[in-house]
Amino acid sequence: MLPKHQFSITKNPNGAIAAPYGAEQLTVLNPAGLQAARHEITTWPGYQATPLVSLPGLAKSANVAALLYKDEGWRFGLGSFKPVGGAYAVFRVIENEIRRTVGQQVTSTDMFAGQHRDAVSRVTICAATDGNHGRSVAWGSNMFGCRCVIYINEAVSEQREKAIASYGAEVRRVPGSFDDAVRMASQISAAEGWHVVPDTAAGGDVDAARNVTQGYALVADEIISQLSADERPSHLFLQAGVGGLASAICGQFWQAYGTERPISVIVEPPSAGCWFESFKAGEPVTVSGELDSLMGGLACGEPSPLAWSILNTGAQSAMTIPDEAAAQTMRLLAAGEGGDRPIVGGESGVAGLAAFLLASQDADARALLELDETSRVIVVGSEGDTDPQSYSQIVGRTGDQVRASAAGL
Ligand SMILES: Cc1ncc(COP(=O)(O)O)c(C=O)c1O
Repeated sequence: MLPKHQFSITKNPNGAIAAPYGAEQLTVLNPAGLQAARHEITTWPGYQATPLVSLPGLAKSANVAALLYKDEGWRFGLGSFKPVGGAYAVFRVIENEIRRTVGQQVTSTDMFAGQHRDAVSRVTICAATDGNHGRSVAWGSNMFGCRCVIYINEAVSEQREKAIASYGAEVRRVPGSFDDAVRMASQISAAEGWHVVPDTAAGGDVDAARNVTQGYALVADEIISQLSADERPSHLFLQAGVGGLASAICGQFWQAYGTERPISVIVEPPSAGCWFESFKAGEPVTVSGELDSLMGGLACGEPSPLAWSILNTGAQSAMTIPDEAAAQTMRLLAAGEGGDRPIVGGESGVAGLAAFLLASQDADARALLELDETSRVIVVGSEGDTDPQSYSQIVGRTGDQVRASAAGL
């Protein structure tokens, strides 16, 4: 089990579990949008629903009835959940452009067959990233055949930079934080006539950010179809940067389960607790300063307005957890507790699980979050060893070694 660490919890004063999924939420995520995303993404080469892994050993140590881990380390071989959002939004940009310039509706399958190759190659996609989003946008651009320029800030590791460049994208490194890279990507794109695919609506391109979020909802859609009817989940522990992933998961469960939906807890590093501070204040709050964290994907200071539309009413609490808890959770997952299958979970990917494990050991937190021995908890393992060097430094074994030990069980 995880050693005890300091953590903080705050309730969301607006987080009403009985609230209906209303008009504001429907403008972000809706059944037609999910169907369109599912229709495209499931035709991409290599598509497979990622596994929902039961961890009975950890559930027992945490004194809950069940703990399920959606393992996104498998997604399209990219190591994180991000392709279902970023690459899907790339598809939507190109599809729009072809409709505008050629006057025809296309699908991903049409593009794979080489239709409108010239029109596609004239499109330039641009994004800012802390690593995973840029990799998914670069991968999508490469798959569809358009040009791609990715902005990263100084904290992004060289390994992550190389992973993005391996899909043929031009990578530009800029000083400052992730938020500075976001600003730079939108300024240059406006000047050059490129299409920005952000994972936040804070920079202004709401349509692309909405498509990113709608694509992420496929992760929750898969989870819901992987659950049996008697497995109604009680809690979701969802890590957040700008909140796109958390809002997509929370929103999809909200649509599927209505007022019977699970309690959603948003998880962040203390240095970048913009959701935590926003819930405390009852309105969106931007945090500044050194946002740096081992959980690099969560090092964002500004909630996405689209995500706010869902999480403001949809989520019940927020937690901040220290980096060391994430590192220890990576080791715990890799070792496999009480006979659990070893799993490769990366720094940002295990944050929800780490927060759940910390809360489960604390009587006050259990009471506040309504966790008990009947709880059925779901976490989204949103990345595997996306930075292999960092992973093996933290865990003491490579991702491949851990995967081999799981395969040997
Ligand atoms: C692995 C991982 N998990 C979670 C997140 C958070 O997603 P969001 O910024 O949509 O909240 C990110 C963002 O980059 C990420 O890379």
